[in-house]
Amino acid sequence: MTVPAAPQAEGMPSSSPASAVPAVRLREVTRDYRRQRTSMFTPAPVVRALRGVSLDIAQGQRFGIVGESGCGKSTLLRIIAGLDQPTTGSVEIDGTDISRLPERRLGFLRERLQLVFQDPMGSLDPRMKVRDIIAEPLVSQGKRDNLPRVLELLEAVGLQSEAADRYPHQFSGGQRQRISIARALAPDPRILVADEPVSALDVSVRAQVLNLLDELVERLSLTLIFVSHDLSVIRHVCDSVAVMTRGEVVEVGATEQIYQQAEHAYTRALIAAAPRLRTALAGRTAADLAADTLAAKESR
Ligand SMILES: Nc1ncnc2c1ncn2[C@@H]1O[C@H](COP(=O)(O)OP(=O)(O)O)[C@@H](O)[C@H]1O
Ligand SMILES: [Mg+2]
Repeated sequence: MTVPAAPQAEGMPSSSPASAVPAVRLREVTRDYRRQRTSMFTPAPVVRALRGVSLDIAQGQRFGIVGESGCGKSTLLRIIAGLDQPTTGSVEIDGTDISRLPERRLGFLRERLQLVFQDPMGSLDPRMKVRDIIAEPLVSQGKRDNLPRVLELLEAVGLQSEAADRYPHQFSGGQRQRISIARALAPDPRILVADEPVSALDVSVRAQVLNLLDELVERLSLTLIFVSHDLSVIRHVCDSVAVMTRGEVVEVGATEQIYQQAEHAYTRALIAAAPRLRTALAGRTAADLAADTLAAKESR
């Protein structure tokens, strides 16, 4: 005779391992932006930046998001980070639905999830010393006497302790991005979200910053969500990738699998466009070229 399993008590943790709860779960997320009206007689045009995006990102996964500029990558990250709300659809972080929470209820999210942006100069206050920049997320959690933690973080990102008393403009672009990474790691988050973190850097320092991210994600067992318009950058740090175009995720899978045998025409165009980068006009990316190639194919 088999004994039926006891019913799970309401509100009790499930018996499945914690890792079964994805770090991030999106269901049918859309985001509409209303543009400025061009005339008082016409309604404001609506831009649909995301169209029904559904994704699961497992704990400890290194998840890349790739696509041409304007395809909705940053909008998606802002929604995952609770900095913006979806027009429809749901967003869960570690099993908690954040899609309708007001900003003041997102404190728990700030402890779990931190961001690194593309432009370290724009995201670092030029009037603040590095020690105060890095300690800022700790201070907003009410923590004091943060210098030992700041020094530990500086060392972790490969900067000398003297950096603590300098200002952002006294550093190179790559060093400033190291400072941004140190600040993001200060509250000991489990999820690190990076929006084009090396795109503004010289090619020569890109690999160094990518290697640092790679090493820190490994050492701290972080979940990484990494946006780039460049699949070769994603390939360097991510085990999985979602390919976006025009607000939709068109393909998700293991990075190597997608790189070797992409199914969607857009992804294949994205990969094929990469070698042409060298000869491409300045400012045009492989992703933009791929979008052009696909648009040209579709219009035929
Ligand atoms: N605050 C906003 N107001 C109006 N339109 C926006 C806003 N943010 C993004 N968009 C539009 O949404 C689309 C996606 O933008 P974004 O997420 O920044 O793309 P990506 O990061 O892939 O370059 C673009 O068409 C962009 O112009
Ligand atoms: Mg962007």
